[in-house]
Amino acid sequence: MIEAEWWEYDDADEMADAVAGDIGFIVESAIDARGECLLAFPGGGTPKPIFERLAGKSLPWKRVTIIPGDDRLVPVDSDLSNIKAIAQAMLPAGARVYPIAVEAEDYVMAGHAADARLKSLKWPPDLVWLGMGSDGHTASLFAGPDLEAAMDAPKARLAMGIHPDPMPPEAPVDRVSLTRSGILSARTIIITITGEEKKALLEQAIEDGQSSKLPIGRVLAEAQFPIDIHWAP
Ligand code: 6PG
Repeated sequence: MIEAEWWEYDDADEMADAVAGDIGFIVESAIDARGECLLAFPGGGTPKPIFERLAGKSLPWKRVTIIPGDDRLVPVDSDLSNIKAIAQAMLPAGARVYPIAVEAEDYVMAGHAADARLKSLKWPPDLVWLGMGSDGHTASLFAGPDLEAAMDAPKARLAMGIHPDPMPPEAPVDRVSLTRSGILSARTIIITITGEEKKALLEQAIEDGQSSKLPIGRVLAEAQFPIDIHWAP
C-alpha cells in the first residue's frame, strides 16, 4: 500500500490556507534549488479557493510555470476550461500560465499536441496537484476507450487525448490529460478532495492498491513516494 498522509480540516477555508502554504513552500524550494518551478494544477471546483489564496502570496511568480494536469477540449474562454480558471487566478500574480489543450476535432490529435507542448517544458514538474471525481477519476483519467493506454503509457508519453465513456455530466466533453507515468514523474504529488463520500472512496482505492478498479487507485498504487491528501468536509 502507498504511503498516504491525510490532512483533515474543519472546512474548505482552512484547507485552502494550508494547501496554499504547502504549495508556496514547494515553489520557494524549487526556485532555491533550480531557479525555476513547474506546477501542474487540477481542474474542477475544489481548487478555486486555493488558487486565490496562492495568488495572494508574495512569491517569485515570474519564475513559475503553471500547466493544467488535464483540460477539457473547449474554447479557452469557456467556463468549462481548466486553463481559464488557472489563468484568471494566477496570471495577475505574474505566473506563466501554459495551456496544454488545443481546439481540435480529433481528441487523439489534441493529445499528441498536448504531449508535444509538455515536452518543450523542463520536466519533471515540481508538483502535480490532483483532484478526484466522485467516480474515482483523477486528472482526466476516465473510464473509456483510452484508459488502458493512458495507464500503460511509456515514461516518454506525458499526455494523451481521452474520450470519457460514460461522459461526466459536469463537463461532458473530450479531454487531454497527463498519463499515469506523466503524473508519477512529478517530484511531489498532493491531492485535495472534499466530502465524506470522496474520502471513503479514496480510502478504499488506496487500500485496494493494484487491484483497484478506480483510475485514482491505479495511479496511486504505482507511486514511489509518500503522498499528502488534504481533505475538508
Ligand atoms: C477535471 C479535473 C478533475 C477534477 C475532479 C474533481 O478537469 O475534470 O481535473 O480530475 O479534479 O473532477 O472536481 P471537483 O473539484 O469539481 O469535484
